[in-house]
Amino acid sequence: MKKLVILISGRGSNMEAIVRACSDEGWPAQVAVVIANRPDAAGLAFAASHGIATAVVDHRQFQDRERFDAALAARIDGFEPDLLVLAGFMRVLTAGFVDRYAGRMLNVHPSLLPSFPGLKTHQQALDAGVRLHGASVHFVTSQLDHGPIVLQSAVPVENGDTPATLAERVLATEHIIYPRAVRWFVEGRLALDGLRVTLTPPEPQWLFAGHTAGEGA
Ligand code: GAR
Repeated sequence: MKKLVILISGRGSNMEAIVRACSDEGWPAQVAVVIANRPDAAGLAFAASHGIATAVVDHRQFQDRERFDAALAARIDGFEPDLLVLAGFMRVLTAGFVDRYAGRMLNVHPSLLPSFPGLKTHQQALDAGVRLHGASVHFVTSQLDHGPIVLQSAVPVENGDTPATLAERVLATEHIIYPRAVRWFVEGRLALDGLRVTLTPPEPQWLFAGHTAGEGA
């Protein structure tokens, strides 16, 4: 049985999708704890109501990133996780923290990386005029929003889209690809070769979602 530790900062809808898939699909895994860096993270209530342990390590109570990351790592390591899942965890991590969990820490980012790292990804996509946008699940490295990509989803950018409509379309695909990627890890099917992640046995490491222009006309 693999142990998962999930880190959140807010709503936690990706955490929810992973918790539900783990239980509904009978993964050989359990979510040991959901940890938030904010006491008011809404997702904590969902975790608690599903009998999952919760914890808060409030970043505002630490003088610097090093001390916060050390306290967070101490809390995480108490659960001896096989995989650390960042699910809307909005903190820049120190190199020491990233190294500690190298090869066993995943993140979801709302863009087709390496395009649009950082914040306001949907606005960045609209400003750039791209016609495909999406989300990426990747192994975390010390470069922010960068690292070997496990799985990506692509959605169309429609005329009239706003950051909010685009975020909604992308988020719906995050809820598909993130549980899928975590399940692949749990099943021991992922291998890293430099920046390339291979899946054995193979299946598509991408998802095209949403209708195409003119469809149904
Ligand atoms: C998600 O869209 C996730 O991709 C994004 O925050 C949102 C969290 O939603 N993460 C990042 O931007 C990380 N760089 P959730 O709390 O409902 O899962």
